[in-house]
Amino acid sequence: MLNLLYKSSYVFVLFYYAIIPLGYLTKWWVTIEKMKGNSTILVTGGGGYVGSHTVVELLKNNYTVIALDNMINCYSGNEKPESLKRVEQITGETVTFYNVDIRDREALDKIFKTHKIDSVIHFAALKAVGESVKIPLTYYQNNVGGSATLLEVMAKNGVKSIVFSSSATVYGNPQFLPITEDHPTGQGCTNPYGKTKFFVEEIMKDVCTSDPEWKVILLRYFNPVGAHDSGMIGEDPSGIPNNLMPYISQVAVGRREKLQVFGGDYETPDGTGVRDYIHITDLAIGHLKALEKIFQCDFRSWKAYNLGTGRGYSVLEMVKAFSEASGKQIKYEITCRREGDISACYADASLAKKELNWTATRDVKDMCKDTWNWQNKNPKGFQKS
Ligand code: WQD
Repeated sequence: MLNLLYKSSYVFVLFYYAIIPLGYLTKWWVTIEKMKGNSTILVTGGGGYVGSHTVVELLKNNYTVIALDNMINCYSGNEKPESLKRVEQITGETVTFYNVDIRDREALDKIFKTHKIDSVIHFAALKAVGESVKIPLTYYQNNVGGSATLLEVMAKNGVKSIVFSSSATVYGNPQFLPITEDHPTGQGCTNPYGKTKFFVEEIMKDVCTSDPEWKVILLRYFNPVGAHDSGMIGEDPSGIPNNLMPYISQVAVGRREKLQVFGGDYETPDGTGVRDYIHITDLAIGHLKALEKIFQCDFRSWKAYNLGTGRGYSVLEMVKAFSEASGKQIKYEITCRREGDISACYADASLAKKELNWTATRDVKDMCKDTWNWQNKNPKGFQKS
């Protein structure tokens, strides 16, 4: 009996001082391995502006990328979006691509059954603010319904971590500036597009509450602008650009006659709208930092982070900066305010710096230089010039 007791205590001591630390060591090693990029990431909306720039950074960091896109917002000469073909040229790596809509449960499930997906970065969404006011149901069906389907298929396949492409629009008209992550969300979202971002955030929070295995990072973008410094990929809006920077660059390249400055009577230094513009490459790198956070074994549930520079620029300051970067005069005319616009919006990005070890490093000059480099090399965007 004593002998048995002696032996079992010996086994217990061995277990306690050897097996448990070994388990933590293994878990730590797996996490580091994943953080080093030895993992496979599903990128929804991978053919889009932010998606394609993020795929570049993922490939540069040894991640394996599976991209899907329903191609509604990206130009394609054949089966793969032109943007992703150029990503492959930039990186020398291959992107596995599926022409799939996130509402197609069966097609999504097949992707998860074909590839061992370690995590997901979710960009796929309709994102034209003005259009969302005209066709709200299409936006709710696609952005909210599609995200819920994606989450269901992920859970079914045991993939319970996601980085979500959210937006500063969830803050509505800011109650204070700079905006911190604890600013109220969902109040005063001025358009269905912004509401879809808010609703999807809330769905993801509820999923985390229902199942503690889920890990979610919500990245709230301020105003993404610029292009990859190769000039091979960039923002290529279809039709008349809604956003300021692509409109300015199309004036500079001669595709548009002049810029309409929406409002010159805001309570800002020069009366025009102030926004926190962030270089697309800084934004893309922010997604890699979010993945590293997700792969940390001590991260649980959900967390939101602002991705901005913390500095606001007015419309007229952007026009001046672009003119200096391109050497082109940008004709403009100050007109009335645009429905739903807010006066000023810029981030407090200190939480991302503290917890993601991420900060924007490219300034407005870089944003304008790289935008012009892309536009000048691709006057008609991805369509053959
Ligand atoms: C910026 C400033 C306009 C066009 C939107 C979405 C947001 C995010 C970024 C996705 C404003 C002024 C613009 C023009 C102008 N998208 N402007 N003439 O409205 O801050 O944000 O895009 O996540 O969710 O809401 O960006 O570029 O449209 O406008 O004077 O032709 O430029 O009034 O002050 P916005 P924007």
